[in-house]
Amino acid sequence: MIYQIYPRSFMDSNGAGVGDLAGVTQKLDYLTWLGVDAVWLSPIYPSPMADFGYDVADYTGVHPLFGTLDDVDRLLAETHGRGLKLILDVVPNHTSDEHPWFVASRSSRDNPKRDWYIWRDPAPDGAPPNNWLGMFGGDAWVYDEATGQYYLHLFDKKQPDLNWRNPEVRAAMCDALRFWLDRGVDGFRVDVIWLMIKDALFRDNPANPDWRPGDSPGNRQIKLYVEDRPEVHEIVREMRATLDSYGLGERVLIGEIYLPLPRLMTYYGADGRLDECHLPFNFSLLERPWDARTVRQTIEEYEAELPHGAWPNWVLGNHDKTRIASRVGTAQARVAQLLLLTLRGTPTCYYGDELGMQDVPIPHELARDPQEILSPGYGRDPERTPMQWDASPHAGFSTATPWLPVAADYRDVNVAAEQDDPHAMLTLVRRLLESRRATPALTVGTVRTLDAGQPDTLAYLREADGGRVLVVLNFGATPYTLDLRQAGATGTVLVATGLDREGSIDLAHLSLAGNGGLVIKTT
Ligand code: GLC
Repeated sequence: MIYQIYPRSFMDSNGAGVGDLAGVTQKLDYLTWLGVDAVWLSPIYPSPMADFGYDVADYTGVHPLFGTLDDVDRLLAETHGRGLKLILDVVPNHTSDEHPWFVASRSSRDNPKRDWYIWRDPAPDGAPPNNWLGMFGGDAWVYDEATGQYYLHLFDKKQPDLNWRNPEVRAAMCDALRFWLDRGVDGFRVDVIWLMIKDALFRDNPANPDWRPGDSPGNRQIKLYVEDRPEVHEIVREMRATLDSYGLGERVLIGEIYLPLPRLMTYYGADGRLDECHLPFNFSLLERPWDARTVRQTIEEYEAELPHGAWPNWVLGNHDKTRIASRVGTAQARVAQLLLLTLRGTPTCYYGDELGMQDVPIPHELARDPQEILSPGYGRDPERTPMQWDASPHAGFSTATPWLPVAADYRDVNVAAEQDDPHAMLTLVRRLLESRRATPALTVGTVRTLDAGQPDTLAYLREADGGRVLVVLNFGATPYTLDLRQAGATGTVLVATGLDREGSIDLAHLSLAGNGGLVIKTT
């Protein structure tokens, strides 16, 4: 399992109210205890923090808030010492407007770095060069008085987009990747990889007729000319080749990509060549309705679309989306973890989801997220609040007032309280990871959905080397008795969402609690 850490919010080692690298290092024993395989850190680079690190001012440094390069080296040594991997976030689509590259680029039209960014003349009436909108809302162009041109920013105006058609930009970014790979980093999660190349002709995007208030502001337009352009794959291949030069299969490339499944799959590589992302993030569980039928269809569609030999992956949460426990409710959050950790492929868990952490409402006046500031109501602060470690003040996250408020329920929902509680969500997640590791059918087995025969229920079989595991989930509150003889005559419960289920089970009369889930070894 990959565990995503939002460094500002994980553990503050020095009383700054903001998490840091030494804090992550302190908590590695917890991650080992939980059964994590790899840690992905959201950006740690120097940054003015207009988008909390996704606005990078230096690709080969560390923000003093988070620590130093020595702290990275220590963290690397400690993760590797425990047999864990460390994955960094890289943000190649845009820099901060305070990055020296952009400072040079905007200084004059004939600066050698001018073409490192996307500068265009105004329309004849002085308006922006085209109709493109930013993902956080508002225009994607900012007029620069001094040089009389507009620059493009698909996100905040403090995040100018790099021009990936310029070979010098590509070389500079690959150098930055090598800087970290040389230090021993095990791979990268690449931010908005599918947006990196824009239309060479800068054509207008069509309006999105399906957009409704409440949808993300970035979806007002069909992003026809800014996303998933054919030329992007060449760049992804170049990044992959850089990683592969450190040994085939040694370093991992993960792509952040929000696209329909058939288009997502092209980021594994074209024509059966698996030479792009190892793991193009599969966000379908985040994007689609939460019900048994849709989830079944999603599993079937995803498995059918996967290129031959490609390794699947599943995601339930990240720093941009409502937390799963808030979206589906506390009871279903257990079902969701059981699903995530028994599907075929690498699961990614967002920090705190293993506790059942919920979104924390943050009033607009206290918002920190640029998306909330530009588009009220769309903020991502609620899912970025401090990790809940114990019942002490500030949930044990910090000795100072944290940068975002701690959840009101932290005295009950925290690591210390859940660690020894057999009923806790954390215990369930840990057991699931333990079983997964010990059971080849769950780690490498095939997956086949079954007809569970009742509404709201989902069943699938995982199989490897003669071993079979049946997973049964109830997406509703009504209990059912299921006939699942198609999976075998009897079985033994490996993990259950409730504690009352142990030992042998008759698959002809399988009783499934409301909001319940079972992982059963069948015979
Ligand atoms: C990605 C990040 C998000 C950020 C955006 C711009 O979607 O996950 O947090 O705001 O890119 O870098």
